[in-house]
Amino acid sequence: MINKVKGTYDILPEDSSKWQELEQVISNVSRIFNFKEIRTPIFEVSDLFHRGVGESTDIIKKETYDFKDRGGRLITLRPEGTASVVRSVIENKLYAQANQPLKLYYQGSMFRYERPQKGRYRQFRQFGAEALGSNSPLIDAEIINYASTILESLRIKDIIIKINSLGGSESKDIYKEKLVEYLKPNITGLCNDCQRRYEENPLRVLDCKIDRENPILVDAPKPLDYLNDEDRYHFDQVISALDAIQLKYVIDKNLVRGLDYYTNTVFEIDANVSTLGAQKTLVGGGRYNNLVKSLDGPETPAVGFAFGMERLLIAIEAVKQQTPKEFIHCYMIALGDNAQNEALKIVNELRHGGLICDYDFFNKNLKGKFKQSERLNPMFNLILGEDELAEQVINVKITKTGIQKRVPLNGLYQFLLNSIRNVSSDSCSGNCNSCDEC
Ligand code: HAM
Repeated sequence: MINKVKGTYDILPEDSSKWQELEQVISNVSRIFNFKEIRTPIFEVSDLFHRGVGESTDIIKKETYDFKDRGGRLITLRPEGTASVVRSVIENKLYAQANQPLKLYYQGSMFRYERPQKGRYRQFRQFGAEALGSNSPLIDAEIINYASTILESLRIKDIIIKINSLGGSESKDIYKEKLVEYLKPNITGLCNDCQRRYEENPLRVLDCKIDRENPILVDAPKPLDYLNDEDRYHFDQVISALDAIQLKYVIDKNLVRGLDYYTNTVFEIDANVSTLGAQKTLVGGGRYNNLVKSLDGPETPAVGFAFGMERLLIAIEAVKQQTPKEFIHCYMIALGDNAQNEALKIVNELRHGGLICDYDFFNKNLKGKFKQSERLNPMFNLILGEDELAEQVINVKITKTGIQKRVPLNGLYQFLLNSIRNVSSDSCSGNCNSCDEC
C-alpha cells in the first residue's frame, strides 16, 4: 500500500463541506472589504522566493520544495503567496491600473518542509490578502480589520492581535547596528539557533521561542524604540485608526516575523483555543514597502496578511460547541392597525440594510407574538404601537439582557448596527452603562 506523504492529508467527503463553508465566509467578507480574487500558479522559478522571502529565512534555508524541471529550470513549490502575487502584479502591470490601491486576495496550497504536527503541515492552505499601491496607515488598519472580521464572522472571539513596527530601511539599519552591538558580548549566552541568526539575520533573534524569557533578550533594544520620525508617525497613525474602529490589540515589541520583506507595521493574530496546541497563530502579516521594487517592479508600498486555513478549521471546531442556536437580528411586533404598515416598511428597510428580520404575519395576540419571537431567537424585539408611531419612536428590546430602549425611528438602523457589535461581543452584557447603548 502506498501511503500519503508525511505532512499531507486528505479532505474526505464528510469534511469537504467544512472547507466550502470556510471558503464562503472568506469570499463574503472579501466582498464587503472590496478585495478581488487572484489565482497564481503553485510553482514559480526558485529565484522569486529566494529574492522575495529572503535567503537567510528558515523558509528558504530549510523548508522549500525545490526541483529542476525537465528543461533544467530551477523551480520551487510556493511556500507562501505574497511573492507570487507581487510577481503577477509586476508581470501583468496591474500597478498601472487606474483603480488603486490594488486589493487582492487568494486561497490555495502552500508547501513547506516543516516538522509536521497538529496545525502544521508540509502542504497546507493559506487565505491571504495584499493591498498594493498605498502607504496610508489606514490601509494597515483596514488589513488588520479585514483579518479580524474574518475571525468575527467565524465566531472565533478569544483572539489577541499583536502589532509592532520594524520601521523602514533607514530605521531598520540603525536598529540592526544597535542590536548587533548589544548582542556581541552576550551572544554565547543564547541558544544555537540565536547564534546562527545573529550571524545571518540578527533581527530574528528577538523571535526566539527558547530564549524568550532570557534576560539577554528581555533587555535587548527593540525596533519600536529606534523608529525615525516618519516611521513613528506611521505607526502612531495605524494605532489611532485601530482605536477609531475599536479593535483591541497589544503592542508586542518582540514581534519581528519570519520573512525578510517586512518594513514598518507587522502583526499576528493568535487564538486562545486549546485544540490548536502550540500553533496558536492563525494569521500573520505586515507592510512590505520594498518588495515590489526588489523584484524589478516600480516603487510600490504594500501591506497584507495570510491565514493558515487548517488552523482556522481547528479553531472553528473548538468554538462550535459554544455557537448559539440559529438567530435573526430583529423580530417586529406591531400593535394596532395603524402600526402594521409602518412596521412592515421598517422591516423592509432594515432588510435592505442587510439585517435578518421577521414579522408576525398571523396577527397573534401579544403572548403569541412573544412566543413566536422566542422560537426565532432574535437579537432584538422591535415593538411599534400607535403611541410610538405618533412620536416617531420605536421600542427596542435587547433579548440577551431584557433591557428596553426607546429609539427614534430615524436613528433605528444605526442604533441596531452599534448594538449588534456590542451584543455579539462578550465585552458588553447590555448593562455596562458605558457603551453607546447602555
Ligand atoms: P507566515 O507567517 O509565514 O506569513 O504564514 C501565515 C500563516 O500561515 C501562519 O500564521 C499560519 O497560520 C499559516 N502557516 C504557516 N506555515 C504553516 C504550516 N506549515 N502549516 C499550516 N499552517 C501554516 C506568510 O506566509 C506571509 N506571506 C503573510 C503575508 C502576506 N504578509 C504580507 N502579506
